[in-house]
Amino acid sequence: MKFVRFLMKNSALANVPKHIDHFSKFSPSPLSMKQFLDFGSTNACEKTSFAFLRQELPVRLSNIMKEINLLPSRLLTTPSVQLVQSWYIQSLMEILEFLDKSAEEHKVLEDFVETLVNIRNRHNDVVPTMAQGVMEYKEAFGQDPVTNQNIQYFLDRFYMSRISIRMLINQHTLVFDGTTNPAHPNTIGCIDPHCNVAEVVRDAFESATMLCNQYYLTSPDLELQELNTNNAKQPIHIVYVPSHLYHILFELFKNAMRATIENHEASSYLPPIQVMVAIGGEDLSIKMSDRGGGVPFRKMEKLFSYMYSTAPTPQIGQHQRTPLAGFGYGLPISRLYAQYFQGDLQLYSMEGHGTDAVIHLKALSTDSVEKLPVFNMTALRHYKMSHEADDWCVPSKEPLDLAFYRVAK
Ligand SMILES: Nc1ncnc2c1ncn2[C@@H]1O[C@H](COP(=O)(O)OP(=O)(O)OP(=O)(O)O)[C@@H](O)[C@H]1O
Ligand SMILES: [Mg+2]
Repeated sequence: MKFVRFLMKNSALANVPKHIDHFSKFSPSPLSMKQFLDFGSTNACEKTSFAFLRQELPVRLSNIMKEINLLPSRLLTTPSVQLVQSWYIQSLMEILEFLDKSAEEHKVLEDFVETLVNIRNRHNDVVPTMAQGVMEYKEAFGQDPVTNQNIQYFLDRFYMSRISIRMLINQHTLVFDGTTNPAHPNTIGCIDPHCNVAEVVRDAFESATMLCNQYYLTSPDLELQELNTNNAKQPIHIVYVPSHLYHILFELFKNAMRATIENHEASSYLPPIQVMVAIGGEDLSIKMSDRGGGVPFRKMEKLFSYMYSTAPTPQIGQHQRTPLAGFGYGLPISRLYAQYFQGDLQLYSMEGHGTDAVIHLKALSTDSVEKLPVFNMTALRHYKMSHEADDWCVPSKEPLDLAFYRVAK
């Protein structure tokens, strides 16, 4: 029996590349916030969601697995990236088992939820494991601009794909497990149709304050202001995933607090972090301003790089849990969360003064549609791009010797 299972598993494994080729030919189907809510509304149909996911999850997984295969081979073959890749293959195979099962059978639907929960747990550590692979690669082979650009391009798309896959899994498992969340009875899966933005700001601030106090024994205050042009007296609400917004704000608060404290080491006064929440007809924006001394303009582009941090690099120890803090992942991942529903995250800084981080979200749920990577010729070209010469002059480090041009008298 064991031998039969072994043979079956191996033949299934051998077919994986064929399945990846097949499913990656489909483009992922982005869902709107409204569609997510419909799946969770009173006439929610588990069978429809099941039928959609057993096709859509393999499509999203295969699209991104195609791109994993295009990573530089010295990165692809690191143990960490191999591990991540094996999780993706395993999860894809598990979902494919449902392709020929009947949505009419209760047991099938039940098993599907269980499989999704297992997949979600299996992929819990994808971000730190991938980060470790990139660090191992960087330490062994150094960095060059082409590889850096490729890795940045890949990781943005890879993590965005992961955010979207987890969103689909969370919605299905939370909506169809038959219970309501006692702390938030009105949420639909992980979406809050009346998410109070100021409340999420305060929650994230409090968590960051606790961390900051542990580390520095002090922390700056918060000054929060809301500007509701639609109804000045009402707190600002949005249809959104509170955990995504919380993640972004928590990362921004940590950065703002660290900068504020390190920039005021000599004085006993810490200027507060100011947050302004504003809503208009199209955008909901949240601006966080600190007086943490800012960042030189030259470095601004680097802040969203997965390879950049000014915090001490965490040690990779064999017996330690994979570390993440200080990897420089706070900003790039937060920007992906903001972009996932067509928003954005931008940083403006004045060196010598401080930094403004602005989160832009769509005010209307009809505009909030998933932003998803698709594997196509354009994506392929990015990985195959060779390093072309810069088409702007690079100033020489040595001053030009003008004596060479002196005309003999
Ligand atoms: N508000 C800010 N003021 C000054 N510098 C900042 C600010 N926000 C970010 N930075 C700079 O940008 C770098 C990258 O920030 P990011 O949050 O991505 O990573 P990190 O804070 O170093 O590590 P972590 O992954 O733990 O967040 C920081 O190391 C810091 O140098
Ligand atoms: Mg950070």
